[in-house]
Amino acid sequence: MVNKIKKILVTCAFPYANGPIHLGHMLEHIQADIWVRYHRMQGKEIWFISADDSHGTATMLRAKKLNISPEELTLKSYKRHKLDLLNFNISYDNYYLTHSEENYFFLKKIFHELNQKKMIEKKVVYQLYDSVKKMFLPDRFIKGTCPICFSDDQYGDNCEKCGSIYSAIDMINPKSVISDAIPIVKESTHLFFKLEKLTKMLEVWIRSGTLQKSVVNKTKEWFKNGLKNWNISRDAPYFGFKIPNFLNKYFYVWLDAPIGYISTFKNLCNQNKNIDFDEFWKKNSNCELYHFIGKDIIYFHSLFWPAILESSSFRKPTKIFVHGYLTNNGKKLSKSKNSFIKASDWTKYFNTDSIRYYYASKLSSTIEDIEFNLSDLVQKFNSEIINKVINLASRSARFINLNFNNLLSSSIDEEELFLLFCKESDTIGNFFKKREYFLAIKKIMFFADLANKYMTEKSPWIIAKKNSKSLVIQSICSMGINLFRIIIIWLSPVMPELFLKVEKFLNTKLFWKEISIPLVNHKILLFKPLYNRLNIPNVDLFSDTKN
Ligand code: MSP
Ligand code: ZN
Repeated sequence: MVNKIKKILVTCAFPYANGPIHLGHMLEHIQADIWVRYHRMQGKEIWFISADDSHGTATMLRAKKLNISPEELTLKSYKRHKLDLLNFNISYDNYYLTHSEENYFFLKKIFHELNQKKMIEKKVVYQLYDSVKKMFLPDRFIKGTCPICFSDDQYGDNCEKCGSIYSAIDMINPKSVISDAIPIVKESTHLFFKLEKLTKMLEVWIRSGTLQKSVVNKTKEWFKNGLKNWNISRDAPYFGFKIPNFLNKYFYVWLDAPIGYISTFKNLCNQNKNIDFDEFWKKNSNCELYHFIGKDIIYFHSLFWPAILESSSFRKPTKIFVHGYLTNNGKKLSKSKNSFIKASDWTKYFNTDSIRYYYASKLSSTIEDIEFNLSDLVQKFNSEIINKVINLASRSARFINLNFNNLLSSSIDEEELFLLFCKESDTIGNFFKKREYFLAIKKIMFFADLANKYMTEKSPWIIAKKNSKSLVIQSICSMGINLFRIIIIWLSPVMPELFLKVEKFLNTKLFWKEISIPLVNHKILLFKPLYNRLNIPNVDLFSDTKN
C-alpha cells in the first residue's frame, strides 16, 4: 500500500495585541498543540504557526490609554504573548505578528487580485459616529438594545441573547462605549468585497466536510438571509495598513488578520529554507491546512476567508476545527467582560502540564463549552497524575534504585499484560487524531489503574521484607517501570514537561513508534519526585482589567 504522506500546516487564531493571553485563549493553543505534537510523534511533517493580531481600533485606543504608540504596544504585547505561549509549551514553529512587512505585502497582493477580478466595489454608507472622540465607531464600541428581541446591553453587530446579526445603525438607543455619547449617523465611502457573488461556492465548500456538522448548521442561517457584501475599509483614525490610493482609509483588521496565516508561514520559510512556501499555499496544493478557532469567529473563517482565498491565487483550508468556550460559572472567560485568568498569573502558582492535562480530560471534537473549575483541576491532577501515574514510577523505581544498582531486569515479567498495553496505542492515537482527547485520557487512566493494580497484587515490598535482593522484585518493578513508560508516551502530546522529565529519569529517548520495545537490561537514574501535589493558592486569580 502506498502511504501518501501529506505535509500539514496548522494554525491557531491570532490573539489580539490589545490584551493579555488568558486561559480561554490557552484552551485553543493547547488543543492545537496536543494535535500537532501527536502528529509529530508519528513522524509527520507538520508546521505549527500563530501570531499576534496587531491591528484595529481596540489596539489604537488601548495604546492611547497607556500613552504609548500602537506600534510600541504591539511589540510589547508580542513579546509578552510569545513568552506566555512558550511557558505553556505551545510548540510553535513560528509565532509572528500581523503588523509586519510580509503581511502588508500579501495584503496588497491579494487586494490587487481582488480588484482585478472586479470583486471590490465602492459604496457610500451611513455609520455611527462619535462626535466627542471624532471617530466612526466599530460595532464593539457601540452598545444598545437589540432591534429584534429588545434585549438591553448588546453590542453593535450581534445580539448575544437571540443571536441575531444586525447593523449598528438599526440598534435602539445606541451609545458610544468610549465616550458615553449618543452617536450621530454620518456618511462615508467604503470598499466592499462582493461576498454575495461567491454564495454558491461557499455553500458547496461548507458542506464538503470542512466543518463539523453542528458548525454547518450554524451557517445555514446566514445563507438563508443571503450573504451580504463585506466592508473591508475603515476610516482614520485607525491602527492598520493604509489602503493604496484611498486617502485616510485603512484596511479592516479582519482582512489583514487571516492573511497573517500566509505571511507568518512566509516568515517561517524565510528562516527555514527547506520549506517550500508555494507547495503549501498554491491553489490545488497537496498539503493540508487546518485552522483551530473558537466558535465566535466561525463567520470570518468559513465565509470571508475561503471567499478571499478563492478570489486570489491561494488555496483554501482543508478543515476548520471549531471549539467551544472556556467558561466560569457558565460564562465565557473574556477580556471584555473582565473575567479571566491571565496566562502569566497561572505560571506564578501552577505548572502548565496541570492545565494541559485538565483541558485534555475535557476536550472533544464538539463545540460544547468547557467549564473551568480550579478545585476540580487540582483534585484531578493530584488524584490522577500524582497518585496514579507518578506513584507508579515512584513505587517501582524505589527497589530498582536501592537494590539493583538502577538496572532493569533482562526480560518482561508479564508479556501478556505488556502486550495488552501496546495493543491500545492505536486506539489512543486515534482519539488524539480525532480530537477526542477526553476519551484518550479516560483510556490512559484506565490503564494507569491496571498498572497500579498489577503492582499492588505483586506487592514487591512484601517480598522485600524477606529477601530484598530477590530477582522477582527486580522483575516486578521493571514491569512497573515499563508500563509507566508506555503511559508517559501516551501522555506526551498532553504533558510535554513531564515527558522530558521522564526521558531523563529513564535515561533514554522515548518514541511512540517504539512503544512495544520494552526497556530491558537498561540502567535508569535515581527517581526524584516529578511533580509536587497542587494546592489552591490563597489569591483571587481572576483579573480585574479595568485599568
Ligand atoms: N484576533 C481575532 C482572531 C484573528 S484570526 C486570523 C480574535 N482574537 S481573540 O483574542 O479574541 O481570540 C483568539 C482566539 O481565542 C479565538 O479563536 C477565540 O475563540 C479564542 N478564545 C477567546 N476567549 C476564549 C474562551 N473563553 N474560551 C475558548 N476560546 C476563547 O478573535
Ligand atoms: Zn436579540
